[in-house]
Amino acid sequence: MKDQIWLIGFMGTGKSRLARPLATALGWDALDIDTLIEQRTGDTVPAIFDRGGEAAFRVLESEVIEDAARRERVVVATGGGSILAEANRNVMRERGFIVCLEARPDTIAARIRQSGGASERPLLRGADPLTAIAALKEARQPLYAQADFVIHTDDMTPDQVTHQVLTAFNEQTAVSAGGPI
Ligand code: S3P
Repeated sequence: MKDQIWLIGFMGTGKSRLARPLATALGWDALDIDTLIEQRTGDTVPAIFDRGGEAAFRVLESEVIEDAARRERVVVATGGGSILAEANRNVMRERGFIVCLEARPDTIAARIRQSGGASERPLLRGADPLTAIAALKEARQPLYAQADFVIHTDDMTPDQVTHQVLTAFNEQTAVSAGGPI
């Protein structure tokens, strides 16, 4: 049986926001990859990008994902680019049910504006955020689409998303256990 849920999806789709209520509902722990990176390095994500660039950040991200994947009964909020490395995707798939939180670029831009703006997201600095979001999201879409379950969050409350993710997780658990007798 899968004993991890990995939340993947673009920045601003609610991964960090939803990990805790999902974990609470299951009696599991919630982990957040960006927070774990910040705890490990004592640096913020933008500072890590400033100092070592995206490549340095991705190395740390993979290390933290590998550590998280050793835990049992965890809901893990990943960063938007955690699915870029094949090794990360394999580690998540081994024991995890992978959920992609989806949202339209305009929804994402609005949520990011409300939560610190593009300065907190090094990959969205400079260019017009909506254009940058749309381009980066489209390039990554084939990887996000590999999730076991995809949910469009634009018009949903966090409670509704939590409920639907739990339902999907319980259904796949029932199927993998052989279904009802
Ligand atoms: C990134 C997403 C961010 C953070 C970093 C890179 C990305 O996390 O990991 O800025 O490549 O999409 P959130 O998805 O939590 O914003």
